[in-house]
Amino acid sequence: MEKITTQRLAALKRQQIPIVALTAYDYPTAALVDAAGVDVVLVGDSLANVILGYENTLPVTVEEMLAALRAVRRGVRWALLVADLPFGCCHPGPSSRTVETSIAFLKAGAEAVKLEGGRSRCGLVQSLADAAVPVLGHIGLTPQSVHAMGGYRVQGKTAKDAEALLEDALALEEAGAFALVLEGIPREVATRITGRLAIPTIGIGAGENCDGQILVLADLLGLTVPPPPEGPSAIEGRKPRFVREYLNLRRLILEAVERYAADVRAGSFPSAAETYRLSEAEAAPATAKSQA
Ligand code: KIV
Repeated sequence: MEKITTQRLAALKRQQIPIVALTAYDYPTAALVDAAGVDVVLVGDSLANVILGYENTLPVTVEEMLAALRAVRRGVRWALLVADLPFGCCHPGPSSRTVETSIAFLKAGAEAVKLEGGRSRCGLVQSLADAAVPVLGHIGLTPQSVHAMGGYRVQGKTAKDAEALLEDALALEEAGAFALVLEGIPREVATRITGRLAIPTIGIGAGENCDGQILVLADLLGLTVPPPPEGPSAIEGRKPRFVREYLNLRRLILEAVERYAADVRAGSFPSAAETYRLSEAEAAPATAKSQA
């Protein structure tokens, strides 16, 4: 195994070896994802909706991100560990909050930060590069801009919008980003951007020609709670087109918990083999005492 660094990701692009990235938010799954040989583990701000049950990514706080990051850090040994800067700490203007939060993330064990947005974020990317914080950019369908976009909509669908995305990508590269996430854009646009950049692109809903792919772990495992009206107990939820579910963990967990509940109610759990007992020597006087 080789420790993955930002330099190693650049080499993977040059060698045309696809980069594998996934999110993680806790110690056990981070350890599994790392052991499976994933190149990049992202503590995504999708923590907000996927794990904490918020409606979107906007409410998640720096403190919530830090708690998840520290747990994931304890599980990750080989992959490059990236932490997402949450909504509100990387908007155009003075960069101090962004730099402070990023430094807190690196002190907690992240090796890079991710931030959403195009050209307007280049000043921040430069400030972070000056502070020795590697930055993963994120353009296209940027979930933190859900209200500005009027919903989760595929971006870059017109020639003008596609051109603007290419300009964003080139500007972020110039500002010092070591790689870019391309989310929710047509494959032709992602292909063009990937071909024009020296830094790697990591796609999610951006087609097969990016230098790598990322998915939200809970989507891949079939653990994402479907939005209403299906609600939390739904087993078969609607999933975005770009998600491939390798497992239906919702179904497996529901079945396991239903079996456990049935066993407890039927008195068949715990069994004798699952129960601690006093030794015969200790049990006899205890029984005798209780009879006296
Ligand atoms: O927060 C997240 O999970 C992400 C990935 C989907 C790229 O930003």
